[in-house]
Order: sequence, then structure tokens, then C-alpha cells
Amino acid sequence: MSRTVPVPHGLPMERDAGPFDPPRRMTRLRAARPVSPLIFPDGHEGWLVTGYDAVRQVMADTRFSSRQDIGPVHVPYEIPGMPAVTEPSPQMPGVFISMDPPDHGRLRKRLTGAFTVKRMKMLEERINDITERQLDHLARLAPPVDLVKEFALPVPSLVICELLGVPYEDRENFQVNAARLMVKDQSLEEKVAALGALTTYLGELVARKRAEPGDDILSDLARHDDLTIEELTGAAFLLLLAGHETTANMLGLGTFALLENPGQMAELRADPALMPDVVEEMLRYLSVVDILYRYATEDIELGGETIGKGSTVIVSLLAADHDPRRFDGADALDIHRRARGHLAFGHGVHQCLGQQLARIEMRAGFDGLLRRFPTLELAVPAGEVKLKTDMNIYGVHELPVTWTGTAR
Ligand code: HEM
Repeated sequence: MSRTVPVPHGLPMERDAGPFDPPRRMTRLRAARPVSPLIFPDGHEGWLVTGYDAVRQVMADTRFSSRQDIGPVHVPYEIPGMPAVTEPSPQMPGVFISMDPPDHGRLRKRLTGAFTVKRMKMLEERINDITERQLDHLARLAPPVDLVKEFALPVPSLVICELLGVPYEDRENFQVNAARLMVKDQSLEEKVAALGALTTYLGELVARKRAEPGDDILSDLARHDDLTIEELTGAAFLLLLAGHETTANMLGLGTFALLENPGQMAELRADPALMPDVVEEMLRYLSVVDILYRYATEDIELGGETIGKGSTVIVSLLAADHDPRRFDGADALDIHRRARGHLAFGHGVHQCLGQQLARIEMRAGFDGLLRRFPTLELAVPAGEVKLKTDMNIYGVHELPVTWTGTAR
């Protein structure tokens, strides 16, 4: 393995190899040095892990901590207008995605217990209903329309409302605030206001569920007396944050990917039984979460390198899921691939808790779109679709689409 490859300064982010491929510098690094030193903009000497095997190893090893409150936060790219973060972030109660065992397990176990097979079945019916109703709404609009605003964002938001048992009369407000957190053209003040409104609302909702439990996941959690109201609020907030933008971006970017591969889209439309495997392949191909952070709590050997205690380690799920050592022809979408083993939902103790739900949403979403909009196409040249290279989770800001007729 070559040690002559230059050490990158800052994380390569620009999608210069196409909207669905890792940045070229990332691909070159993966070939030459899949566990590579990385100089952060603040001068910190951390690591960037791009090879499939090494990324999986990082995720499986809890000596790579997920906590953000044990060391300074080193951000691997410049954020224009954002001052450098010098202090560790405080730990929000209940937000177990940034906790380590055993605290993490105590909270996660409570939620796993609430995601029962029976509830998933119930949710599947509701998700199909929600999706069809949103498609009715879409079909009533005069194209061209922005698929993100009219379909990809509202569906996961309504599903989270269902999951948390947000009453119907509160849903519009909830959705408006959730959308404000996710979209780009909101000022920082508006985002902070939306965040405040949502946490206050969730706090009240949790207190109501504890007093009068219903048939939803939040009520199941609220029945556990050992969880405080703050922890319950944090867990509800985590479900919203982790489940909304991820799924919305998969629906938006996934539709873009299908439209860019018309032959495969036609094949899928003709044979919807392919859908479960196609969803898996789209998860791999798009890996929208892409960048995760870990913190080395001791010196750790990885891929022939020594990661020093205290280093920030960045993994690229996209680079790993496009690693040709693991997936043949990895940079191509292939609806006949069996993409098992992809890392789009992470791996190890933090592996996505909502993955079954996300799969149900994506199957219903893509299936409904293809069935009801047989002539769906982009309303702008592909090169004009605005990509979210400036956000935490990758996707499209807008997806202008058009059609000439709809079906049931
Ligand atoms: C964790 C991806 C949808 C809830 C994660 C992680 C990834 C991920 C990569 C691991 C994070 C880490 O290791 O630091 C995705 C993708 C989704 C999706 C690609 C959509 C396609 C959802 C949904 C929910 C959800 C719908 C729930 C409503 C969670 C939670 C965690 C998590 C609670 C934290 C688990 C833990 O720390 O133990 N997700 N997710 N996700 N996800 Fe998802």
C-alpha cells in the first residue's frame, strides 16, 4: 500500500465524479490508503476511513466512541459563516445515537422493545395509506412540480407523526417546523425557532403520553417509569431527526437515480416484485448518510495504521459502499444486484433502529410513484438538479418533475 499519496487537508466533498459517486479524491484515497490521516481545517490530525472492511471494523468497535461530549469537536470541512467549535457538545438526555455502551443499550433496548412486529404490520398499512394520499395530492397538481416538497419530505414526516402518536390537529404545525429544520433556505434564527418549537411540543406530548398512554411507540416508552421526561423527549426528537431527512433524501435522490437510469426504471415498473432488492441496492448506491464521526478512546490498530487515542475518525459510508473490493461494478446502479452487507444503515451497536420502517416507506414510495406516474420525467436538465453537497445528509434540494398522465 502506497504511503506516498498526499495527506488530504479537509474532507473532499465536491461530487466531481457525478451526482451518485464519491468525490474523486475520496476514490483515489480508498485505492491507495483506505485508512488515511486527515488534516482538519482547525489543524487537528485525525483519520479518514474509506475502505469497506476498515469502515465496517470501525463501526463494530466501541472503542471508537460516538460521544460528542468527551473531546473537542473537530469538523472536517469549513462551514461558511460558522465559527469553529472549540468545546465538546453537551450530551442531550435520551439522544442515544451519541452515547456509548452501557448507557446507549439501556435506552436503545427500550425502543427496540417498542418496535414490535405487530406495530410494524400496523404501520405498514398506515404507511401505504399515507403514501397513496400524498400521491393523490401530487396527481392533482399541475406539473412541473418539486417532488421533494410535494412528496419526499411530507411522507416521512407524516410517518413519524404516526409513530409518535402526534394528534391530527397538531400535525400541520409539527410538519411545518420539522420541514424548517431540514430545508436549506431558512435562516439560522428560523431554524433555532423551529428547533425550540419542536422540543417544547415533544416535551408536552411526552408528558401527555405518560399521563394517558395511547397505542403508539411514544406511549410504550412513556410507560417505563425509569425513563425521565427529558430522556423521552430526547428519544422522540432523535426519532424525528434520524427518520425524517434520511428517508426524504432517499425518496428524492432515489427518484433522480431511477430517472437517470431509464432502462432499469422501465424494468422495475414492469416487474414490481424486484422492489425489495432494488431498495437495498438504492440504499447502497446512494448511502445518503455517508459521513459519520467517531472518537478513538485508546490507541487502536486499523488497516495497518495506528489510530492515536483522542483522534477524530471520519468514516465514509458512500466510499465503503462503492468499494470495488466488496461490490463488483460498484459505481453503477444495478437493480439485479443483491446488495446485502451494504453499510447505508451503519453497522454494530448503533445500526439504524428504523431500518425496517425506512424499507417499508421506500418500497411504498417508489412503487406508488412508478405505478401512478407512468410518464414521470425530469423537468430540467439533470445537470441543473441542485445537490446537497452542503448538508449533513446527501440528497437533492429540489427535484423538478413533470408527467403527461396519471394512473391508479
Ligand atoms: C441510526 C441511516 C431511517 C432511526 C442510523 C445510522 C445510520 C442510519 C447510518 C447509524 C448512525 C451511527 O452509527 O452513528 C438511516 C437511513 C435511513 C434511516 C439511510 C433511511 C433510508 C431511519 C428511520 C428511523 C431511524 C425511519 C426511525 C424512525 C434511527 C435511530 C438511530 C439510527 C434511532 C440511532 C440508533 C442507535 O444509536 O442505536 N440510521 N436511517 N432511521 N436511525 Fe436511521
